[in-house]
Amino acid sequence: MLVLGIETSCDDTGVALYDRDAGLRAHALFSQMSHALYGGVVPEIASRDHIQKLLPLIDALLIDAGVAIDDLDAIAYTAGPGLAGALLVGAALARALAFALAIPALGVHHLEGHLLAPRLEPEAPDFPFLALLVSGGHTLLADVQALGQYTILGESRDDAAGEAFDKSAQVLGLGFPGGPAIGKAASRGRETDLRLPRPLVDRPGLEFSFSGLKTALLQAARERPLDDERRCDLAYALQDAIVDTLAVKCRRALLQTGHERLVIAGGVGANQRLRERLTDEVAALGAKLYYPRPAFCTDNGAMIAYAGCLRLAAGQAGNQDFGVRPRWPLSELSPP
Ligand code: KG4
Ligand code: ZN
Repeated sequence: MLVLGIETSCDDTGVALYDRDAGLRAHALFSQMSHALYGGVVPEIASRDHIQKLLPLIDALLIDAGVAIDDLDAIAYTAGPGLAGALLVGAALARALAFALAIPALGVHHLEGHLLAPRLEPEAPDFPFLALLVSGGHTLLADVQALGQYTILGESRDDAAGEAFDKSAQVLGLGFPGGPAIGKAASRGRETDLRLPRPLVDRPGLEFSFSGLKTALLQAARERPLDDERRCDLAYALQDAIVDTLAVKCRRALLQTGHERLVIAGGVGANQRLRERLTDEVAALGAKLYYPRPAFCTDNGAMIAYAGCLRLAAGQAGNQDFGVRPRWPLSELSPP
C-alpha cells in the first residue's frame, strides 16, 4: 500500500510517500519564509503559498521516487487542527486527486502525525509510550497506548512552549521562527545569576503554563542595553527555564505512569539542549528516550503519510467530506 501524505496545516508545505512494506520512500518540504517579515504566520499568505507550492512539490516527489501517479493506493492529508485556509488547500487537492484516481482519501489529525513521527526512525518506539508533544501550537504530555488511543495527562493552560520561544525571540530581536534562533544564541550564551521562572513546577500535576515567561524575559531585557552578549545570555536563561520545566514534568509523568519509553515530538523537540537534558532524565529512571530527526520534529508530510497508512492498513475507510477541523481535540480520536 503506497500512500501520498500532504501536510498544509500552518506554514510548511510537506509531502511524502509512505509504503506499508518498504517504509518511507521519499519526502519533500517547502518552508515558507515570507512570514519572517511579519514576525509570525500570516494565514492568508500561508494559504496562497500552499496553493503555489503543493502541486510542483508533489510532481517533484513522484519523479524523485520514480513513482507514477497511478501507483498511489491512497492519499492522507492533514484535516486539522490548524489554519482553516491552509488546511483547505491540502484537503481540496487531496480529495480532488483521490477522486480522479478513484482511491481513498483520509483526513489525518496533525498531532497524531507528530506523536507517531518517532516511529519513522530505524529505532522506533513500540507502544505503549509516554509522549511529550511540544510544538508552536501545543504543549502536552500524552499516554499513547496504541494507534488512536491517547490520554492527555497534562497540557498548557496558555502559551505553548514553541510560542514562548517565538515570542521571546521577538523580544530579543532574534527573528522568526524563534526556537532555532534562541537555540543558536543560547549556545553562545553563559549561565548568569538571572533565573527565569519555572512555571507550575512546585505544584503537583502535569499542566504547563508558559505565558509568563516572555514577560519575565522582557523585564530582564529592559534592565540594561541589549548587546549581542546580553542577548545570548538571555536566550540561555530562557532555554534553560523552558527545558527545565519540561524535564521536571516528564520525570513526574514517567514516575506516575511507569512507562519505560519517552517520546519527544513536535518542533521544539528539535532543541538540542532539551534532547540532552531528557536523555539524562530518562537514563536516571532506567527508561529510554526516542525522538525523530529534526526534520520530522517540525511539520512534515512523512508523519501524515505514515499515520494515514497505519489507519488505512488497519481497515479504516477514507472519509467522504471536504471539511477540515481547525480545532480538533486529540481526545476525540479513536482507534481505526
Ligand atoms: O511542530 P511545528 O513545526 O509546528 C506546529 O505544529 O506548531 O513546531 C513549530 C515550533 C515553533 O514554535 C518553533 O519556534 C519551534 O517549533 N522550534 C524549536 C526548534 N525548532 C523549531 N524550538 C526550539 N528549538 C528548536 N531547535
Ligand atoms: Zn506541527
